[in-house]
Amino acid sequence: MKLWSGRFEKNTDKLVDSLNASISYDQRMYEEDITGSMAHAAMLGAQGIIPQSEADLIVKTLGEILEDCRAGKIEFTEENEDIHMNVEVLLTERIGAAGKRLHTARSRNDQVAVDLKMYLRNEIGDLQEKVKKLISAICDKAQLHLESIMPGYTHLQRAQPSTFAHYTMAYAEMLTRDLGRLSDCKARLNQCPLGSGAMGGTTYPIDRFMTAKALGFDKPTENSIDGVSDRDYVLELASALSILMMHLSRFSEEIILWASYEFGFISLDDAYATGSSIMPQKKNPDIAELVRGKTGRVYGDLMGLLTVMKGLPLAYNKDMQEDKEAIFDAVDTVSLCLDVFTPMYETMTVRVDKLRRAAAEGFINATDCADYLVKQGMPFRDAYTCVGKLVHYCIEQGKTLETLSLDEYHAVSPVFDEGMYQAIDLMTCLKGRMVPGGPAPEMVQKHIDHTRAAIK
Ligand code: ARG
Repeated sequence: MKLWSGRFEKNTDKLVDSLNASISYDQRMYEEDITGSMAHAAMLGAQGIIPQSEADLIVKTLGEILEDCRAGKIEFTEENEDIHMNVEVLLTERIGAAGKRLHTARSRNDQVAVDLKMYLRNEIGDLQEKVKKLISAICDKAQLHLESIMPGYTHLQRAQPSTFAHYTMAYAEMLTRDLGRLSDCKARLNQCPLGSGAMGGTTYPIDRFMTAKALGFDKPTENSIDGVSDRDYVLELASALSILMMHLSRFSEEIILWASYEFGFISLDDAYATGSSIMPQKKNPDIAELVRGKTGRVYGDLMGLLTVMKGLPLAYNKDMQEDKEAIFDAVDTVSLCLDVFTPMYETMTVRVDKLRRAAAEGFINATDCADYLVKQGMPFRDAYTCVGKLVHYCIEQGKTLETLSLDEYHAVSPVFDEGMYQAIDLMTCLKGRMVPGGPAPEMVQKHIDHTRAAIK
């Protein structure tokens, strides 16, 4: 019999039960549901709302139920709809009348909001650790490649000198912002909705500060309607995770390109690549492709959540039960992607020779060549035109700026002299970019040091 069957004369249709029940996915919040109930019962006892002896019995029995859940000894039922009613029924089966007092001054509406906030708070912490691991892996690899010159790109055309360290530390920077977004989300959600009741609070003399504190919240929420109808924290987390996945997806795209024969910048470890069922030569970057693909899935979770919420009047509506599968999917997906992406990145081999060759062939020192003329007194725009002519000449002749003779330079401008060869040497170009944030090894080393300190 349903806990709420009092005003009904018939049982619900079987199909209604399967549409209505959320136990198949909300059972993962059993830990939070039970600890939330223990805090609530202890508060009811302390406030004299239920007898202290019964409160003690409830808390003790809930502790036992929690142990049984952890040991996998409990079977939840669809009959009891969701994790909240399942736990309450288990409790009442064990201690009878006292168990029936647990739900005094509480509704599933505030209960589910508390459970979900606590669950997500914990997941955010785990995700942050995983993001930190990836950042640390990026720093470690960067440390080895401070002088591994490669082209930086704009429009996917070779642009200016960078290094593997400088290039990949851009991703460390993005992921560090992701960490900040996760922290913000965790801090903002940390107000306890318990005591909002169904939507209108309660007439019992409950102590919301006591339960908020016991459950690790900063304070109780300030409005009982918002307390049960707010899902901003779910949306905020899904947004932060979508942005994080966008970063992983861009990184994956680079890795897919780099692993291609055309780039050849990296090779993936055999443990993190796959073969083809027909083409014997293939070694495919499936992991990176799946991370890129699963980004769409996490965006889908965010879109689904935003759409569920957009038309809901205050306060709780059953539509909101749909929040869980989407946010759980987003959390699980990001977590799995990070778990696999990080070792894939750690084990891949960087082909320094290939990076260097790409850097040599792309006229990525053309800006430096123009800057050389500027240092000799030529206005930048004129210098730009001169070097443009030289590049055009090089392309026609199949040469590079480094291999042109001084006579060929002089055909374009008499300002060039021997010093120019040193100025356009890629190592000179690199080390000269001493601006903070630039690719000079010293500057990237600073960034690595700051990043490592930030994730300590
Ligand atoms: N399983 C429900 C959910 O996830 C719990 C809240 C139910 N509240 C209610 N009034 N039916 O949202």
